[in-house]
Formats: sequence, C-alpha cells, structure tokens
Amino acid sequence: MDNWQKSLAAALELEHRQVDDGLAVFLTELDNGRVAADHLNTALEALRRHIYAEERILFPPIRHGPMAMPVAVMMCEHGEIWRAMNALAELAGAGDINRMRVAGQRLLDQLATHNDKEEQVIYPAADSELEPEQAEELADFLETGLMPDCWECREAG
Ligand SMILES: [Fe+2]
Ligand SMILES: [Fe+2]
Repeated sequence: MDNWQKSLAAALELEHRQVDDGLAVFLTELDNGRVAADHLNTALEALRRHIYAEERILFPPIRHGPMAMPVAVMMCEHGEIWRAMNALAELAGAGDINRMRVAGQRLLDQLATHNDKEEQVIYPAADSELEPEQAEELADFLETGLMPDCWECREAG
C-alpha cells in the first residue's frame, strides 16, 4: 500500500494545493510582465483532471442520503470553475495582462471557496465511504490516470 491509498483525502487536498500554487506562480509572473503559459496550462490541465476524478470516480458512490445535496453543490461549482478556466485560457491567448490577472484571481478565489467546502464536507467520505475497489480505482487514477480528450464536467455548458 502506497501513500495515495493511505489517505485519498490527503491526495486530493494535495492536488488542490498544486493547482493553487501553479496559478499563483502564473499571477506573480504576470505582475512581472511575463505570461507563464506553461504554468497556466499545467495548472488548468491538472484542475480539469482533478474535477474528472471527482465527478466520475469519487462522487457517484457517495452521493446519496445526506451527501446528495453537498455533492450537487460541488458539481454546480465545478461548472462555474470550468467556465472561469475557459475564459482564462482564452484571455491567455489574447495577451491582455490586466484582464488575465483579473480572470486568474477570480479563478483562485472560486477555488478557495470551493476547495475549502469540499475538504470539510466531501473528502472525509473518500476515506470512509468507498468500497475497497472504489478506493483503489480512485488511487490508481490519481497516480497515473488520464482524462479522456475533450471531457467536460457535467455543468460546464
Ligand atoms: Fe471539486
Ligand atoms: Fe477538489
């Protein structure tokens, strides 16, 4: 058993930190007049993949009873986050640093609220509610899984 399987909640929280850190570097570089497109793209790819893991692997087995409503709220927020990511990626192609900065900060703020709730309310279930094979599927995905091309979260559109 490796570290991922010891605590899936911890592994998912680590992904939150990594995405936040990548976006923070992107914003700091913008303040220095540079567009760190690689940092941005890496963070956005990691965030899309993270949302895929939540919506396709973690949420389905836990969204029942008292967890139905919190999971529905998380999926609604994923839709907002997804649209903010698309807006930021589009701006990054256009090169307007001020607008990129506003959009990047907005995404970071959305993530701060979302991730905090998710870590408090949802992630404990990742360690306590999954059957062993479900936990293994999530652990395997977090370690090596690839998101299908062009996948979008359910409420992206
Ligand atoms: Fe989420
Ligand atoms: Fe998350």
